[in-house]
Amino acid sequence: MRAVSQLRLGEPEVLHTVEVPRPTPGPGQVSIRLGATSVNPVDCKLRSGYVNFLGTPPFTLGFDVSGTVVDLGPDVTEFAVGDEVFGMVHSRTGTYSEYVLARADTLAPRPAGLDHRTAAALATAGLTAWQALGHADLPGRRVLIHAAAGGVGHLAVQFARHLGAQVIGTARAVNNEFLRELGTDEVIDYSTTDFTDRSADIDVVVDLVGGDYGSRSLRVLRPDGRYLTVQRSDAEHDPRACSITGAPSSGDLATIGALVTAGRIRVHIQRTLGLGEAARAHRLSESGRVRGKLVLTPW
Ligand SMILES: NC(=O)c1ccc[n+]([C@@H]2O[C@H](COP(=O)([O-])OP(=O)(O)OC[C@H]3O[C@@H](n4cnc5c(N)ncnc54)[C@H](OP(=O)(O)O)[C@@H]3O)[C@@H](O)[C@H]2O)c1
Repeated sequence: MRAVSQLRLGEPEVLHTVEVPRPTPGPGQVSIRLGATSVNPVDCKLRSGYVNFLGTPPFTLGFDVSGTVVDLGPDVTEFAVGDEVFGMVHSRTGTYSEYVLARADTLAPRPAGLDHRTAAALATAGLTAWQALGHADLPGRRVLIHAAAGGVGHLAVQFARHLGAQVIGTARAVNNEFLRELGTDEVIDYSTTDFTDRSADIDVVVDLVGGDYGSRSLRVLRPDGRYLTVQRSDAEHDPRACSITGAPSSGDLATIGALVTAGRIRVHIQRTLGLGEAARAHRLSESGRVRGKLVLTPW
């Protein structure tokens, strides 16, 4: 089968399509024929070595999977061959691959109304946004979301609205209309305006940028507010801070998948590329300008 692999850390050009043996599922695992995966910024950080929790190359990147179960490991009771599934995978064999191994108990059935591309775009970004907001009480609260137009941000905006919050997002002016359509009450153009001058009495901050966005966010946060961050920031040690890591969860996937198929949440895909164009997709992701998600489909 084909997979994207890299022999060394480095620029996007280290990504290459290689032929590797099709993997055999171990206990509790299923093998999935890939329908689609997606790019998350952490893929680029792992490729370059900026983060290294996959160890040293060679490895295959990718966390999102949507596809069809083709093989079952011992003890799998959740799914049968032919089932359509989606989810988040944490492994060195990744998801930029024709066939993907995943723990069956972390996957969810892919609803009929959710196509592969949408399901793949939703998994990691959606789980991260949903689980972050799960740390806050939202109805009637003022929520400030940084990087509101990105993969996690555009879903966090909609989840927060769905859960009854008033939403303020930071984004460039070019994303104003997009974010308003998704239900953002106010968009602050961070490239021309300091968000600390335009917001106050915030109950919940969702920080997808990090760095000094942390301490600046604390200045507009209520004393009893919550600062939720998925990034390293200079506010991590504040008592109001909570660091979030998106984690696989079949229950959360079922919940957010149902919200999408019910038409309550829209997954925006800026562009779909083939896995043979993974390097190009990484360059686009690293521009920091992607609106919504980049999806990758098999060769
Ligand atoms: N800890 C975890 O479990 C976890 C999980 C998922 C993601 N993350 C991290 O969270 C971050 C966001 O992920 P993502 O998938 O949403 O990324 P993304 O899709 O690549 O984000 C791109 C968006 O960021 C916005 N942006 C860039 N700089 C900004 C700034 N200074 N202020 C406000 N917006 C800015 C851009 O909007 P404009 O064009 O409007 O600037 C663009 O739409 C990444 O660093 C990622 O690694 C962590």
